[in-house]
Amino acid sequence: MIASIIHRQPKAPNVTATNTMTLPRGTERRGHYRGYLLMAFIAIGAYFVGLKTDITTILQTKDEASHGLEVKRTRGIDISDETSELHRPVAKILNNPKVPTWVKNYVEWHRQQRQKYFDDMRAHNTSDVRFLISRCFKNDNCGGLSDRLQDMPYNLMLANQTKRVLLVRWERPTKLEHFLVPQPDGINWTVPDDMFPEDTDWDWSLVEYYCDIDKEAHGDEKILSTIRDFQASIFREYEENIVGHRIYHEIFRLLFSPSDSLSSRIQSTMKSLNLMPNQYSSVHLRMQYPVDVIKNDGGFSFERQKSLITGWATNAVNCAANLHPNAAKYYVSSDSSQTIKYLLEESRFVQNYTDATKHQEHQSAVKLVARDYSIENPHINFAKNLEPDEFMSVFEDLFIMGLGKCVAHGIGGYGRLAAALSGGECVMRHRGDGGNMNVCTQPT
Ligand SMILES: *[C@@H]1O[C@H](CO)[C@@H](O)[C@H](O)[C@H]1NC(C)=O
Ligand SMILES: *[C@@H]1O[C@H](CO)[C@@H](O)[C@H](O)[C@H]1NC(C)=O
Ligand SMILES: *[C@@H]1O[C@H](CO)[C@@H](O)[C@H](O)[C@H]1NC(C)=O
Ligand SMILES: *[C@@H]1O[C@H](CO)[C@@H](O)[C@H](O)[C@H]1NC(C)=O
Repeated sequence: MIASIIHRQPKAPNVTATNTMTLPRGTERRGHYRGYLLMAFIAIGAYFVGLKTDITTILQTKDEASHGLEVKRTRGIDISDETSELHRPVAKILNNPKVPTWVKNYVEWHRQQRQKYFDDMRAHNTSDVRFLISRCFKNDNCGGLSDRLQDMPYNLMLANQTKRVLLVRWERPTKLEHFLVPQPDGINWTVPDDMFPEDTDWDWSLVEYYCDIDKEAHGDEKILSTIRDFQASIFREYEENIVGHRIYHEIFRLLFSPSDSLSSRIQSTMKSLNLMPNQYSSVHLRMQYPVDVIKNDGGFSFERQKSLITGWATNAVNCAANLHPNAAKYYVSSDSSQTIKYLLEESRFVQNYTDATKHQEHQSAVKLVARDYSIENPHINFAKNLEPDEFMSVFEDLFIMGLGKCVAHGIGGYGRLAAALSGGECVMRHRGDGGNMNVCTQPT
């Protein structure tokens, strides 16, 4: 009998390997606080390792920025049609000669195996098809949007290597399909509620984040699930050392396309701000990140830390302006609405743009834009009791930044993910380790 996995009965967790915990659906992970502490510690470690890699990348991309301009201009994108970039057709991705052959083969293999699984189950009530599930169940601690999504190209590579069907299932704040959907001819990663029988030996073996997902995925478990792996840097090394160019953004779009409601929001925002793909650049400002100077001042407060915050924000815009001089627009996104408000309403940039327009000197002035910032972007892990639609803006900003040419970002994975989605070739960090600023000179 096929029953909804939602109603699967909790069983006691049993340890199957030293570093793997078998976690049947619905079981709360009690008594693992030490694990969480260790996880947090390793997460922070992994984070800083990630930063180091980023800084090297930036130093390179900084030098290559002007070269990147050339490359992108000749990419032949139909800029009048942002929808074709927003829902980048699968055929276009797979025909990109930069995308390795295994990706094309995996798309076809995934389709066949997924079908085989359903056929097997109908005919025999069992199947030897194996799965790798990226999950965020109700009681999982999945982190923010980038924690949940940034490893996906790596997961695809691992699923390919270990002959597993890659699936994605979220229950918090709602199904991922509310925001992102697979394309019809792409990789169908959805997990319908009745996909796995209730009462079988299928255990949802969970590989905890501090464990070796790579090793576990090669093991025997039929269904292996993972929350976040911190393996984005492995995929970056693979791109750099083996593929020889960035393919992350292509793989991501092969998997994820905006849902109808997300798509119409993105398009109406881009239309109202007159943003053409690749003709604008973006600035991401993660301001509420608890760096020492903020923590020691009793936590984030725009009013109290205004001079510090506006200094960071001004520098960030300078970085974007250096990265992409004379962009038509610079799109600003932040976890602090007050910071956006400051930039768009009070900063020198707005005064100078007004002056420049008056004197018809558009060239040198920086035109900042943002979508409605009256409501702050909530953190998908920390914000409580919100309706799923209230997280839409977080996805909206991610995609809009990802359709621009360059991204200047600060702390945190979200800005880095947006930068990767923009193609990863024209990227700069305006704030690095521990929140320190990478000083950019004012555009002239
Ligand atoms: C399918 O198999 C499970 C055990 O693996 C069993 O509990 C269930 O009743 C079976 N369903 C059918 C329709 O045979
Ligand atoms: C993907 O799987 C194929 C077939 O197993 C293998 O030849 C290829 O090397 C894999 N790709 C990567 C990047 O590991
Ligand atoms: C994915 O598969 C499910 C059935 O398992 C189906 O209902 C859905 O339409 C498929 N989605 C796409 C985009 O093919
Ligand atoms: C704004 O214009 C003033 C005067 O023209 C100039 O000194 C200043 O550097 C400009 N500021 C920015 C942020 O461009």
